[in-house]
Amino acid sequence: MKREKQIVTIVGAGSTRTPALIGSLVNYKDRFPLKKLVLFDIDKSRIDAQKDYIRLVMEKHCPDVELFFTDDEDKAYIDTDYVFCQMRAGNFEMRNYDEKIPLKYGLVGQETCGPGGFAYGMRSIQPMIDMVKKIREYSKDAWILNYTNPAAIVAVALDKVFPNDKKILNICDQPYSMIKSFAKILEVDMYDIEPRYFGLNHFGWFTKLYQSSTGEDLIPKLKDYLTNHEFKPYNAEQRDPSWLETYKNVNKMMKHFPRYLPNTYLQYYFFPDEIAKKSNPEYTRADEAKAGREKEVLDICRQAREQNSLEGLPLLMGQVHGNMMVEVAESIAYDLKKVFVIMARNEDIIPNLPKDAMVECAGALTENGAEPYPYGEVETFYKGLLENQYAYEKLTVEACLESNYEKAIQALTLNRTIVNPNKAKSVLDDLMEVNSEYWILK
Ligand code: G6P
Ligand code: MN
Repeated sequence: MKREKQIVTIVGAGSTRTPALIGSLVNYKDRFPLKKLVLFDIDKSRIDAQKDYIRLVMEKHCPDVELFFTDDEDKAYIDTDYVFCQMRAGNFEMRNYDEKIPLKYGLVGQETCGPGGFAYGMRSIQPMIDMVKKIREYSKDAWILNYTNPAAIVAVALDKVFPNDKKILNICDQPYSMIKSFAKILEVDMYDIEPRYFGLNHFGWFTKLYQSSTGEDLIPKLKDYLTNHEFKPYNAEQRDPSWLETYKNVNKMMKHFPRYLPNTYLQYYFFPDEIAKKSNPEYTRADEAKAGREKEVLDICRQAREQNSLEGLPLLMGQVHGNMMVEVAESIAYDLKKVFVIMARNEDIIPNLPKDAMVECAGALTENGAEPYPYGEVETFYKGLLENQYAYEKLTVEACLESNYEKAIQALTLNRTIVNPNKAKSVLDDLMEVNSEYWILK
């Protein structure tokens, strides 16, 4: 059957992840064919930096697709089918503060976990709400696929503000990336693996990895392997040192809690002191990513602009982020019912957790969106951790929507990377100062 062509809008298209996402769209052009691609960012200079490379790639590989760059939100969402949202409120400049300020207090400095994730969440919520409203003005039926971080907090906020909007899907690529790494270790095709998973975003566990072709659960084999071997990402050779360290910490977590396979992000909650101590307060992941991915992508784009051709330049490819985004959209667009780890309102997925939590679990993506698989009750240890973390997320959203300082202190005190309310206050006051353009608390 011929697949109908789609209109896609990328929000936050000035991200240096965009060229690789375009690479995925090119790679999947027969599976997810495009009619029009809109690249929208409020920061025109970031789009301009990458525009020529993107234009040349699209002219070469998808000449029939209409391409439109804009910094005008009133032009971005007209009759669109899919919005891929990857905005970063405050850009790298603010990510830098999110990571460095907590380290001053001996706390984890991370963009999505701990105080940094809190500050970033407070910045993301309002622009995301405004974006959904704008999209609904121009395209009431568009699918909004959100990857904006901290996705855990954004998901709770959007669900609270738009409880009846069935076409918002929050999804993270870390489980996808981990499955790709598991598949390499196990020497199987990643698309032959169907995961089972429970938790919250950046706070969850794999419980099963079914091999679809045989029905076998590969978790026991993988656990065996990880007891004796270092866990490495599938693309270890291209990864920066901090990410390799992160994957190694999965081995360490499994020594204490061998029951399930933890998401790498749990390292920040189990080993906050060790991680804060090891971090260099002058050089965090933001610096590493800037010196690595940002520089590499911007150099390629600059060359494309100067020579006005792609000669000698690679086609940047999104092995994880880009491929997953397009595969997710494809599964929804053509009702493929492929299984992903997704976020959904709990209701009864995990009956002994709050109904309004946005849990992360396995689910099939159909033309009606996510159909999450019921998980069942979680055991006491996990229940305790998850309730605590969800309380943190919920209070963060409430603090933001109500500008409520006290709730912010409560949230940060609940966060396992902080715990001490004195530290919560110190770090909050500092973060509030540098974020004054984005959020205030009273
Ligand atoms: C993973 C996470 C994302 C996060 C990204 C950070 O993919 O799932 O939520 O944004 O890592 O990557 P970076 O290279 O920018 O540190
Ligand atoms: Mn993520």
